[in-house]
Amino acid sequence: MQPSNIAVFGLGYVGSVTAACLASLGHRVIGVDRDDHKVNQIRAAKAPFYEPGLDQIIESTVARGLLTATSSTVEAIANADVALICVGTPSERNGNLGLDQVRRVVEEIAATFAGRTKPLIVAMRSTVFPGTIEEVMIPGLGNHAGVSVVSNPEFLREGTAVKDFMEPSLLVVGGTDQAAVKYVAGLYEPLPVQPCLVALRTAEMIKYACNAFHAVKISFANEIGALSQTLGVPAQEVMSTLCRDEKLNVSAAYLKPGFAFGGSCLPKDLRALTYRAQRLDLKLPMLMNTLESNQQHLERAVHAVMDLHSPRLGVVGLAFKENTDDLRESPVVTLLESLIGKGRDMRVWDPHIRLDSIYGSNRNFLLNAIPHIGRVLVGELSEVTSWASHLVLTQVPSADVMRQIQASGLPVLDLARTN
Ligand SMILES: NC(=O)c1ccc[n+]([C@@H]2O[C@H](COP(=O)([O-])OP(=O)(O)OC[C@H]3O[C@@H](n4cnc5c(N)ncnc54)[C@H](O)[C@@H]3O)[C@@H](O)[C@H]2O)c1
Repeated sequence: MQPSNIAVFGLGYVGSVTAACLASLGHRVIGVDRDDHKVNQIRAAKAPFYEPGLDQIIESTVARGLLTATSSTVEAIANADVALICVGTPSERNGNLGLDQVRRVVEEIAATFAGRTKPLIVAMRSTVFPGTIEEVMIPGLGNHAGVSVVSNPEFLREGTAVKDFMEPSLLVVGGTDQAAVKYVAGLYEPLPVQPCLVALRTAEMIKYACNAFHAVKISFANEIGALSQTLGVPAQEVMSTLCRDEKLNVSAAYLKPGFAFGGSCLPKDLRALTYRAQRLDLKLPMLMNTLESNQQHLERAVHAVMDLHSPRLGVVGLAFKENTDDLRESPVVTLLESLIGKGRDMRVWDPHIRLDSIYGSNRNFLLNAIPHIGRVLVGELSEVTSWASHLVLTQVPSADVMRQIQASGLPVLDLARTN
């Protein structure tokens, strides 16, 4: 790794740790803050706040001459290869993200560009909403030759920030200038992590997705914990056992945006859980709103299909997911009900469903929901592809089915988001 000259803007929790840890990797780092106290603390080789291990790293990197601090943007930028923006992005009163610090630091950096010939990469490490870099940062920096912009969100946690930096859970760099993206990823080369190189907005969104996911996980564990406790069931044991399943529970399973969920278990069991919680006077808003969230997702799909100005719709997939003929609570059935109600002309095909071979509750559910399903359900995919003007894919098809769909040349609305 080639050591770089890095200016870190903002010496708060993220900036101080980032500056000190990058210096400990061998880079020459200068930290910048408007707050003289933080600048003076770094100059005195002390951490500006308590964070385990930070004092020692600052002490050693300052002593090695790799970490300095200043309140002057001009001084910090003069020799920098990379400027890392780590200023605060607090909430505004209405919940919107406050960008005052970002706008100001971008202005201050841009003001140093006159006469600059040395290339500079400006990397956004603060958490900013998708689009902020394109809409606020890039226009704010102006169109100066040699200046590139990337997103490099931070994932550390206060209290374990130094460890999180040195053993990263994730390294994300986003941007359009691939050389700049690779350069910034290269700053972290000694660390045990594979960088994820993505587009600018993707990088910005990943940070929000991560934090929302953490918040959802904590609330989920607390709601299950509260219900378990009320039922006299050991909550810790329930959740620690849940985490033992690394195939379905703590894994990438179910974490792919796709079609709404359905089937004979998830809706039924969520209803039973939340009904019982209500009877126990327990408010579990996350679990209680999960079916509503699913319903909203289904309605988005219905609107997307309604918006297709195509006379003949071919629906591929009728069961609630691939490789089953279980139709109970299949969201596709609800989708078809809406389409039939609106008088849309359609044919439906599912590799595992023949009206004459399904029976019992499965058949009853389907015939109750769509009495005339027999008129639209066909036995061969070719009966759909040779007739339809647009296909609607509701489940992940087999490779063979996908080939036939592609060979048909028909436009596809992919509700299962197979790619
Ligand atoms: N704190 C965390 O655990 C954490 C983790 C990951 C990401 N983030 C994100 O990182 C960003 C920074 O968070 P933080 O907790 O370090 O914030 P912070 O408020 O602790 O620090 C921000 C620092 O920026 C300085 N600053 C503001 N404008 C400046 C300017 N023009 N020039 C120089 N310095 C300036 C402030 O004086 C302050 O010291 C936020 O977007 C936050 O959401 C925070």
